[in-house]
Amino acid sequence: MITRKTAAELEKMRAAGLLVHRVLDELRLMVREGMTTWELESAAEKMIRDAGARPAFKNYFVQAVGQRYRFVLCTSVNEEIVHGLPSTKRVLKSGDIVSIDTGVELNGYFGDSAVTVPVGEVSQQVRKLLDVTRDSLEEAISQVRAGNRLFDICGTVERYVTSHGFGIVREFVGHGIGTQLHEDPQVPNYVDRKNENPRLKEGMVLAIEPMVNAGRPEMKVNSDRWTAVTQDGSFSAHFEHCVAVTANGPWVLTRP
Ligand code: MF3
Ligand code: CO
Repeated sequence: MITRKTAAELEKMRAAGLLVHRVLDELRLMVREGMTTWELESAAEKMIRDAGARPAFKNYFVQAVGQRYRFVLCTSVNEEIVHGLPSTKRVLKSGDIVSIDTGVELNGYFGDSAVTVPVGEVSQQVRKLLDVTRDSLEEAISQVRAGNRLFDICGTVERYVTSHGFGIVREFVGHGIGTQLHEDPQVPNYVDRKNENPRLKEGMVLAIEPMVNAGRPEMKVNSDRWTAVTQDGSFSAHFEHCVAVTANGPWVLTRP
C-alpha cells in the first residue's frame, strides 16, 4: 500500500530530510585523501544524535542479507556499490570515489539520501560516471508530479544511464518512505514490467536512488557478506534524494 502524507506530515519529513542533507554536506566537505571511512561514520553519528534524531540504518534489519546493519553510514568505495562498511582500516586515496549513504528518523519520520564524492583527482571517465548518475537522478526528479506514473521515473533513469553506456544495478532499488525507512512502492532504476505502475498522487514520497556502474551491471557480494561490488571491478556511483509529489510539482525534501 502506498501511503500519502498530509501537509503536516510532509513538514516533518522535510525536517528529517534537511538533517540528512546537513549531515551529508558536512561529510562531503570532510572527504580528503588519507582519512578513513570510520571518521565519516563517527562524525555522522554525532551530528545525528546531537540533532535529537536516530540513525535509521543502525540496527536496521535488511531482508536480503538476513541480518541487521550495524552502522550509521554506508561508505562504498570505488567498485563497491552499496553497504560498504565504515572501517578504521579503509583509508581513502586520491583517485577514489566514496558513496556516502545515510538515513535518519526524526519525530517519527524518515529521511534518506546519498552522494558520491571524488577523493583528490579522479579520472575523466570517473567524473563522467558521477555526472551521469547525478543527472539521471535530476531527470527522474523532474518526472515526480501528480498524474505521471511510477514507470516515468524508472524509465527516465534507465534511458538516461543506458544512453551513456553505463550499467544499471538491478538488485537494489529506491522505495517509498515516511514513517518507515522502506515503504511501498519499490522504485527500480529501470522499468520492471513485473511490477505495478501506479499513478503518482499528491502526498506520495519516493526515495529515488540510481546505482550506476561504469561497466557491466552485474554485482556480487563481498566476503564480508554485506558489501555489494561490481562483478567486473568497474567503479560504481550512487545518488539519492527523497522527493514528495505536491500540487506544485516535485519537492526534494533532502536538499534546501
Ligand atoms: N541505500 C539503502 C536504502 O536507501 C540503505 C539502507 S540499507 C542499510 O535503502 F542497511 F543501510 F540500512
Ligand atoms: Co534509500
